[in-house]
Amino acid sequence: MNRELTNDAADLLGSTRLFSALPEDALLHIAAVAVPRAFASGSAIFHAGDPGESCYVIRSGHARAIGEHPDGRQITLGNFGPGDIFGELSLFDAETRSATVEALDDVETLAITGSDMKALVVANADLGLELAAALARRLRIANQRIERRSFQTVQGRVAAAIRELVDRARVEGAGPGPTQVVATQAEIAQLAGTSRESASRFLAELSRAGVVKQGRGRLIVVDPPALEGWVW
Ligand code: CMP
Repeated sequence: MNRELTNDAADLLGSTRLFSALPEDALLHIAAVAVPRAFASGSAIFHAGDPGESCYVIRSGHARAIGEHPDGRQITLGNFGPGDIFGELSLFDAETRSATVEALDDVETLAITGSDMKALVVANADLGLELAAALARRLRIANQRIERRSFQTVQGRVAAAIRELVDRARVEGAGPGPTQVVATQAEIAQLAGTSRESASRFLAELSRAGVVKQGRGRLIVVDPPALEGWVW
């Protein structure tokens, strides 16, 4: 990358929670070896079972990790937005990709190879700690989903999935009050681990109750606190 692009990439990396602890020379070094890669909305960035060569830091756009059953059913394992990293598991456990990752809108990333990432972690203990913290957060969220799928009603799971999307929108800068989340009914169903039909029925109920307004591929959560009444 030329100097201007490198500085730009270093600024992006430095603004993420994961890389923020790195000194400037390390940021410039990793920015110089990172490769900008863009993916069109709806495309697969990689598939489960592929060899894992690089991890990706999102500059703009959103992506999700998907678990797929051979019969075609899918569930969402994780959602990623600006500043998030994905594709790191296979770099650290030397296995193949644990899930397919799909671009939810046009996604711009910086790709960092496994060997560059490992060298960076070895040289910067703080980065290793931040990575461990990011993995711990993901494990907590995954545990919450397992608990929801085991113990909650479909309505409770869908309401909790919408709450998760509202929380994510807030992390990305949405204010309190009515909040727009970008997700289709199918994506909400996959996040909740239920069928699209069941999610759709419950979303209609939430619309009638004035909690959400449905649009094409998006949802406005008009009354976020009211969602809590359904999360049981
Ligand atoms: P990797 O296994 O290389 O490729 C698939 C990626 O999806 C994985 O790295 C993680 O970045 C991401 N991923 C897999 N499972 C989860 C999960 N439960 N929560 C969040 N992200 C996940």
